[in-house]
Amino acid sequence: MKADLVVNRENIISEVDPRLYGSFIEHLGRAVYSGIYEPGHETANEDGFRQDVIDLVNELNVPLVRYPGGNFVSGFNWEDSIGPKEDRPTRLDLAWRTVETNEVGLHEFMNWAQQADTEVNMAVNLGTRGVDAARNLLEYSNHPGGTYWSDLRKENGAEEPFGIKTWCLGNEMDGPWQIGAKTADEYGRLATETAKAMKLVDDSIELVLCGSSSSKMPTFGEWEYTVLDHAYDYVDYLSLHMYWGNQEEDLENYLAKSIEMDEFIKGVVAICDAVKAKNGSDKTINLSFDEWNVWYHSNKADDEMEPWQIAPPLLEDIYNFEDALLVGCLLITLLKNADRVKIACLAQLVNVIAPIMTIENGEAWKQPIFYPFMQVSNYGRGNVLTPSVESETYASKDFSEVPYVETIAVHNEEADEVVVFAVNRSKEESVNFTTTLNGFTLESIVESTELAGYDIKLTNEQDHDGIKLADNNDFEINGNELVGELKPLSWNTIRISLK
Ligand code: AHR
Repeated sequence: MKADLVVNRENIISEVDPRLYGSFIEHLGRAVYSGIYEPGHETANEDGFRQDVIDLVNELNVPLVRYPGGNFVSGFNWEDSIGPKEDRPTRLDLAWRTVETNEVGLHEFMNWAQQADTEVNMAVNLGTRGVDAARNLLEYSNHPGGTYWSDLRKENGAEEPFGIKTWCLGNEMDGPWQIGAKTADEYGRLATETAKAMKLVDDSIELVLCGSSSSKMPTFGEWEYTVLDHAYDYVDYLSLHMYWGNQEEDLENYLAKSIEMDEFIKGVVAICDAVKAKNGSDKTINLSFDEWNVWYHSNKADDEMEPWQIAPPLLEDIYNFEDALLVGCLLITLLKNADRVKIACLAQLVNVIAPIMTIENGEAWKQPIFYPFMQVSNYGRGNVLTPSVESETYASKDFSEVPYVETIAVHNEEADEVVVFAVNRSKEESVNFTTTLNGFTLESIVESTELAGYDIKLTNEQDHDGIKLADNNDFEINGNELVGELKPLSWNTIRISLK
């Protein structure tokens, strides 16, 4: 089979906002306790944070981490998580039916984020709480001093404000499972008033309004329109959440599910722009795809979990090779929509539906999905080039025209390189793949790697290095063309230096 990608230097979708490579840590399962924080661990630093995990987070080059939830935030009292640890209350977390000790709280997490070289995207509780708690948390976090909350922050050890820039106005407020779920009008009003107060406290912040919990929600579309109609003038982004799985054991259909992500994004963009037109606004609302990933492997185990444990192993999906291929397609889809998707968070980062897993008192290891995320996050920086792709297509259960090759190229001016990412969805056939890079003078291939040749159900659970990147020496430069072979079922990254 053959496929072609043609790009032109001047034909750019958008510069990538680095926050496209964000992730997420929720007080859920072992994400925090025995994930990022395990004081007794041999790599733990003086603050109790696992250095081996910080090293892996650094490898992923994650610029933004959403915190502290997720569903958790909708029942969370942020004040429980500050002050001397011995005075902090232990609470029932109704979202996951576990027990939260608050041993890691706001200051500890801000400290971890600094050590992990990432910013925090803070969510406020609009489930059981509202305007007052949100504005107080913001004052505590960002106000320089001389007021009750900002002075309390100083008393608690942080002289300088945290300076948190991006804030989520609640989480999945349309979901019946959400503590304090709301109708679109209820949430639209509450989010508007909360946003108004928060921007009065600090007008430099950016706010994310909750969209639907997924495009499968019965109120999808109507929800987006209504909440935006209320809050348009006060917010900056609308959120999207979506998880995928291969419950039907249908590989062709599974690998095509990135098309669903693309349609979801395009649909939400259309709604944002419809509200903009209706209100005659000159402001554009961009998107925050602040929860996306594969999530289904752990569902059964989670259903059987005993309630009211501290940090039980919840949502510990063990990912396989086919999941890594889908995650590759989803990352390419986010890049294709980089003109409107400015923030995205791989949900989540450690242990909970995560690229990084830890063993208590043991190693930290990389799931197969670690690799495509790591490569796109590190090398997919700069200008996304508008792709013109010719690829044969196939039909699957839910999709009529699925290209065998999913691909994109990014021009990183700073590094003076173009990087091509490509997935071959074909089970049987390799693809002779030509990328024509118009307007560039190509020098050499800096690095060409692939994930290929594995059983689709192979995981890294037993052999932590079972699935890993391998060199692919098949690619070569021919004038302004890059030519080579994409193996069947493969994830490929080719970095080309420019003259
Ligand atoms: O990421 C796991 C959960 O998925 C989050 O808590 C929630 O927002 C979503 O339903």
